[in-house]
Amino acid sequence: MLHYAFFSFFLLLLLPFSRQYLKLAEFHFPQNMKGRSFMFMSVLLCATFHVSFSIIDGLVANGNFELGPKPSELKGTVVVGGSDSIPEWKISGFVEYIKSGQKQGDMLLVVPEGAYAVRLGNEASIMQRISVMKGMYYSITFMVARTCAQEERLNISVTPDWGVIPIQTLYTSSGWDPIAFGFKAESATVELLIHNPGKEEDPACGPLIDSVAIRTLFPPKATNKNIIKNGDFEEGPYIFPNSSWGVIIPPNIEDDHSPLPGWMVESLKAVKYIDSDHFSVPQGKRAVELIAGKESAIAQVVRTIPGKTYVLSFSVGDASNSCEGSMIVEAFAGKDTIKVPYESKGKGGYKRAALKFVAVGIRTRIMFLSTFYTMRSDDFSSLCGPVIDDVKLVSLRKP
Ligand SMILES: *[C@@H]1O[C@H](CO)[C@@H](O)[C@H](O)[C@H]1NC(C)=O
Ligand SMILES: *[C@@H]1O[C@H](CO)[C@@H](O)[C@H](O)[C@H]1NC(C)=O
Repeated sequence: MLHYAFFSFFLLLLLPFSRQYLKLAEFHFPQNMKGRSFMFMSVLLCATFHVSFSIIDGLVANGNFELGPKPSELKGTVVVGGSDSIPEWKISGFVEYIKSGQKQGDMLLVVPEGAYAVRLGNEASIMQRISVMKGMYYSITFMVARTCAQEERLNISVTPDWGVIPIQTLYTSSGWDPIAFGFKAESATVELLIHNPGKEEDPACGPLIDSVAIRTLFPPKATNKNIIKNGDFEEGPYIFPNSSWGVIIPPNIEDDHSPLPGWMVESLKAVKYIDSDHFSVPQGKRAVELIAGKESAIAQVVRTIPGKTYVLSFSVGDASNSCEGSMIVEAFAGKDTIKVPYESKGKGGYKRAALKFVAVGIRTRIMFLSTFYTMRSDDFSSLCGPVIDDVKLVSLRKP
């Protein structure tokens, strides 16, 4: 008890200097001021009196696996010391502890952050218990790389939410993809589980994992100034400050627990979430890059009044990432559609576009996709595409 009291006091001292405190203090959604301030107060209270770590916007405990097994718990790279061998994690099955620079066949394994990562063999898993706030939304971002030619998959879950993510090296040429997963906390402590459901012949085949981070989400609400939720994409998953790859938002996630609040990725392939620290972004700090042509689309279903006229407006641009050429963004509002051409020189910039439509139902599906596939001119193994941002939907009083 004394311990806790002391620690709370320590946290209280520390709080004003923490990054999250600063982040929470800068409200960029004036329309949500009330909700946000309330959230801020409760997060603050929670942090002070319940010693919750959930407010920390960054790596989970030993999320970069720099703390590893004792030498006696390792046989080569294989962890043999039991489920508690890797500090802060519970492991199960064939788990390897990989040092950066290690060779596998003729492949050199490079670790994105620090010097160590883990590899999950067939049916292996890593799990961590995380203190959160019941009822709040969170996003997990983690780095993943595949190591063998086989199709590899990962099942990431925070019960009852889970998602099976196919691991491809398609998106980033470094071989490591930062991937996002969203969940709603059903209790004050949740179990974050990453499991490789694979059954490969070679048990050493299986994805590498590094840099597991968490971010609290504050899902924005629709307002009368914008019926689209999170139209500026400012609310979304944690982006590693040192990674210039953005974050992959995989397809087929339930929209109410999306790591990109309000939005769902409906198509076969992912979209990329980018930030202004590493990319050119039309508005604010964050935006979405449509990286996989017609195979990747983001959508939101909004409430509409049949017969009423609406205007959907948005920015189309490029991320200043050497993604050059003629691009087209297709925007849909129910059955109405507009094609917006954009000539990209790969150096940043954007234009506005608008689609006027009359709603036919009480719900209208708003969707964006890119007509073409594009490759970076400096890196032919990296997919890229047009950026969309600042999506607004308003109803017209006088059509
Ligand atoms: C993924 O993991 C969760 C939690 O363990 C489980 O409930 C779910 O069935 C798994 N999904 C698949 C497709 O294996
Ligand atoms: C980010 O990069 C800087 C400079 O290279 C380094 O000092 C810092 O530890 C890195 N942070 C993370 C989280 O990797």
